[in-house]
Amino acid sequence: MASIIEIKHLFYRYEKDIVLDNINLSIPEGSFLAIVGPNGSGKSTLLKLILGLLKPQKGRIQLFGQEISKFKDWQKIGYVSQKANSFNTGFPATVFEVVASGLTKSIGIFKFFKKEDAAKVDQALEAVGMEPFRRRNIGELSGGQQQRVFIARALVSDPKLLILDEPTVGVDAENVTTFYQMLSDLNRNRGITLLLVTHDIGTISDKVSHVACLNKHLHFHGETKEFEQMRLEEMSKTYGHEVHLLSHQHQHEHGGVR
Ligand SMILES: Nc1ncnc2c1ncn2[C@@H]1O[C@H](COP(=O)(O)OP(=O)(O)O)[C@@H](O)[C@H]1O
Ligand SMILES: [Mg+2]
Repeated sequence: MASIIEIKHLFYRYEKDIVLDNINLSIPEGSFLAIVGPNGSGKSTLLKLILGLLKPQKGRIQLFGQEISKFKDWQKIGYVSQKANSFNTGFPATVFEVVASGLTKSIGIFKFFKKEDAAKVDQALEAVGMEPFRRRNIGELSGGQQQRVFIARALVSDPKLLILDEPTVGVDAENVTTFYQMLSDLNRNRGITLLLVTHDIGTISDKVSHVACLNKHLHFHGETKEFEQMRLEEMSKTYGHEVHLLSHQHQHEHGGVR
């Protein structure tokens, strides 16, 4: 399958410390990639480079087969930033208006809004299950609901790739699973390639197709089943001895053989 993103020998530093060191990453069309890594490991920086918000200092990035410096089809890429869900609850806009601003790039010029545009907004709201809330004020919604609205805003221009930076930070634990199910549906039913930075890898390993572990270097990149295999091997190396001891002890507690 064609790659949507192709990164080769990418380096980036803000001041003197290197934040991304020789990153090579290829993201196939239709995949659902989770980027994992500790705080400060360069995840958001990598996304900003892919989005053209920062410029590579060394190495190259290609988007949809084109050098990023020449790339112009930015409407093919939707982005929900890390801070999107810490929204000012006093902000006077309806859910419909927030999503519509993904088309007009500013809120408050809806007088000239066409019927087709309104239909696009409703479709995007439907895709994230927020259609019943279209007339509500954005500030009245829960963190998880607001996050769905921001995803709808990113979806309204019909992107082929959706990039999300830690989208579940403001989402209640009990809603995280349904949130990821919604993302999985976008990926499977609408064929949208998803690139997600997350700390929830344990919860979502059955939903993502690929995993990348970043900590300045790319320590692992591959299919989720290889990642799970590696995780199990690491765990048995780290805890194998204790696990063995525990099961041994357990046997004794229950009487064992007399
Ligand atoms: N604008 C900036 N100026 C200087 N340093 C930055 C800037 N943004 C991030 N950094 C530093 O770069 C490193 C990587 O940050 P970031 O990409 O935000 O990591 P992550 O998203 O994995 O937590 C951190 O050490 C952070 O402090
Ligand atoms: Mg970050």
